[in-house]
Amino acid sequence: MKKKDLLSIYDLSAKEIEFLLNQAFKLKKSKKLISPLKGKILGMIFEKNSTRTMVSFASAMFQLGGNPIILNSQNMQRARGETIHDTALVLSSYLDGIMIRAFSHQDVCELAKYSSIPVINGLTDSEHPCQILGDIMTVMELLHIKSVAGLKKVKLVFCGDGGNNIVNSLIALTAILGLDLTIVSPKAYFPKADILDKALQYKGVGAKIKATDDIFGAKGADVIYTDVWTSMGFEKEEQERKKAFAPYQVNSTLLQNASSRAIVLHCLPAKRGEEITDEIMSQYERSIFTQAENRLHIQKSILLYLLK
Ligand code: CP
Ligand code: NVA
Repeated sequence: MKKKDLLSIYDLSAKEIEFLLNQAFKLKKSKKLISPLKGKILGMIFEKNSTRTMVSFASAMFQLGGNPIILNSQNMQRARGETIHDTALVLSSYLDGIMIRAFSHQDVCELAKYSSIPVINGLTDSEHPCQILGDIMTVMELLHIKSVAGLKKVKLVFCGDGGNNIVNSLIALTAILGLDLTIVSPKAYFPKADILDKALQYKGVGAKIKATDDIFGAKGADVIYTDVWTSMGFEKEEQERKKAFAPYQVNSTLLQNASSRAIVLHCLPAKRGEEITDEIMSQYERSIFTQAENRLHIQKSILLYLLK
């Protein structure tokens, strides 16, 4: 059977997303010790820092009976110029899957192209698919939504950097499942045209995707999602970003316009006092840290789907 990668949310159909979510809920409930990935090894390559992705993937492998190997890209021969092609061939002969966190999305696609084993994107500058799958699981759990179809009635609002990896994956998920997403962001940081054009290819599904620089775009939100203003790799722009995003902080004023059942999400790590206040972090601790926990459950589901 041909191996399957998860490089982008667009690698999944609506049916596959629904399957992964249902399986993740079952895994979260189940206390049974099962070892379906016994003998399997996942190599995990990190070009950028990580806490949640690294530890949740490693724990997911252990809990499923397999083993993870954590690799710092700086210690690999790739850092001294070995090609992605050669790295892919070698790793494919030792491992059963690769999870990679990298700067360049193209590099990850190249790794997948030459690997004979599944490659999972653990964040690139362009996408963070595992995060967004866990996030939509959290929305279903906390808003008591029983099916993917029920998500269509949820008003999702992302407030902050409309051009980052989180938003790109969120737009892709919205397009495939036909959801309702408003991006509240300064105009200069709106999603790029190619990202919106790709989403439009699914227009028959009925997604509503809009971008506005007006913070009242958050009115009636059932979910308010934010992320750091400066993503990893963009540190040089930090000062200009702080200025541009200041009016878009998730704080008690912004929350006043949200729906009465609203939850707040943050993929973490957060810069308290910048994109989100300490007060809102504490008030919405349950949703934000359930979101972090669900990374473990959705990743078990992804690993089972791709590696078993
Ligand atoms: N949200 C997330 O991916 O966290 P880490 O950077 O800690 O992995
Ligand atoms: N947009 C953030 C997400 C971190 C999980 C970054 O890329 O740094």
